[in-house]
Amino acid sequence: ADGDHVAALVIGSGYGGAVTALRLTQAGISTAMVEMGMAWTSPGTDGKIFCDVLNPDQRSYWLRTTTDQPVGYFLGVSANKSIPKYTGVLDSEKFAGIRVYQGRGVGGGSLVNGGMAVVPRRDYFTEILPAVDAAAMYATYFPRATAALGVNAIDTAWFATADCYRYARVSRDQATASGYATRFLDNVYDFGYMKQEQAGTVTRSALASEVIYGNNHGKRSLDKTYLAAAAATGRLSITAQHVVTAVAPHSAGGYAVTMNQIDTVGARVATKTVRADRVFFAAGSVGTSKLLVAMRAQGKLPNLPAAVGQGWGNNGNVMVARAQHLWNTTGALESGMPAVGIDNWADPAGPVFAEIAPFPAGTELWISLYLAITKNPNRARFAYNAATGQVELSWQTAQNQPAIDAAKRVFDTINKAQATVYRSDLFGANKVWGDDFTYHPLGGCVLGQATDDYGRLPGYPGLYVMDGSLIPGSTGVNPFVTITALAERNIEKIIAVDVG
Ligand code: FDA
Repeated sequence: ADGDHVAALVIGSGYGGAVTALRLTQAGISTAMVEMGMAWTSPGTDGKIFCDVLNPDQRSYWLRTTTDQPVGYFLGVSANKSIPKYTGVLDSEKFAGIRVYQGRGVGGGSLVNGGMAVVPRRDYFTEILPAVDAAAMYATYFPRATAALGVNAIDTAWFATADCYRYARVSRDQATASGYATRFLDNVYDFGYMKQEQAGTVTRSALASEVIYGNNHGKRSLDKTYLAAAAATGRLSITAQHVVTAVAPHSAGGYAVTMNQIDTVGARVATKTVRADRVFFAAGSVGTSKLLVAMRAQGKLPNLPAAVGQGWGNNGNVMVARAQHLWNTTGALESGMPAVGIDNWADPAGPVFAEIAPFPAGTELWISLYLAITKNPNRARFAYNAATGQVELSWQTAQNQPAIDAAKRVFDTINKAQATVYRSDLFGANKVWGDDFTYHPLGGCVLGQATDDYGRLPGYPGLYVMDGSLIPGSTGVNPFVTITALAERNIEKIIAVDVG
């Protein structure tokens, strides 16, 4: 409530925030968490909390009046539709050269993501974060993170015949036949539940085209793992539908945190200011970077280092699809949770790690879709525009060309070997590459540059960065395990040294 004084305030409830909340509350510290999105706990009139990708309604998008599907076209024609404006679960945040998809709600990105829980290659982790002790990460913090996230492995014997993974087997076999290595990917979706979905004994979720607008069953999102465990300590309060707008030193010590309470169309209901001894920024790469860049420019946190707002990347993301021969069916039933990746990261000429992505349209489409993660070296920065009061991101679409080049080498080879072609109708009319959006925003407050080696913001004791903004633009695989493990490492140190 307005005027409250709290020991610890966490901004955002995604991976970085959830780890922070659990470890602080376990250490006996009362923790207040503020989240701009909704607490997704009440079903709609259809009895479901979330809608599926085939029937997007108001629950799908954050404050939009038309959907903005990542694969937004079919046969070159827009596949988007009108929806009522609402604080839906998936945000497509538009900057000049890129749309950044992010989860909105208690649980952050865990509500909308594909659940793939991939530990980065150790040599690459060392390359991107050389100041972090990799031995400790791989012995302690990655295992701690995957255990707490509820990561499980797919039963590969079941996978070999399951209808819902026919699409993945077709792509995997063609990659293998074209000379590429593939591997199974762990997930936080309960594969035991998915087996029952396939068998028809439980309500379908991953097998009912539920994924990017949320899953009603089966997924161990953060509200069911880290946040549930933090709540069980009795020391966590979560306040949803509150957008933090300012953080500044408080005259009585600690920090004044200002926030707007919003309704379900995004209108401000109230403005509140609380005083917090410590503030943990966990609003995601974009959310944290925007907030800190604005605070520096507005003179509220004027001494933040120049590196705040820099080093942003899209994890080299680019999407692409291939058209299959008519005899190579991909299946009408596709699990929304990917389970296999093409791993060509070791290729020095152009590292690519490509997830075999679902296209859960509920009908046979002969489409093989991929989300490629590449080693795109380009980076961008956030800057405050005083005229508009907005924070802008400098990324230009053309900066994604290295990602296209790397992915093209792999998929040209596969197409040649399989005598197949690209689909050029799914990302626009005559557009092969989905190069103007990302699921993996990373960086903006890079560890050891914008912060010290544990996420402390220099010059402001008690301010910490805990989320994907710490990672310098790339991690070579889907990022949430890296974000979670790094947060585990940093909060352990912060509790031991600063809080204890
Ligand atoms: P995250 O974005 O999770 O959380 C930040 C939270 O802060 C959000 O809930 C936001 O609403 C809130 N917030 C922001 N600003 C605020 C403010 N001013 N006030 C209050 N609250 C604020 N990764 C992976 O490893 N495997 C996968 O399979 C996928 N798949 C995938 C699919 C899709 C569609 C998307 C969009 C993303 C993925 N990802 C993924 C990426 C993954 O979800 C992402 O990397 C993490 O959620 C990032 O975690 P963070 O803790 O950094 O922020």
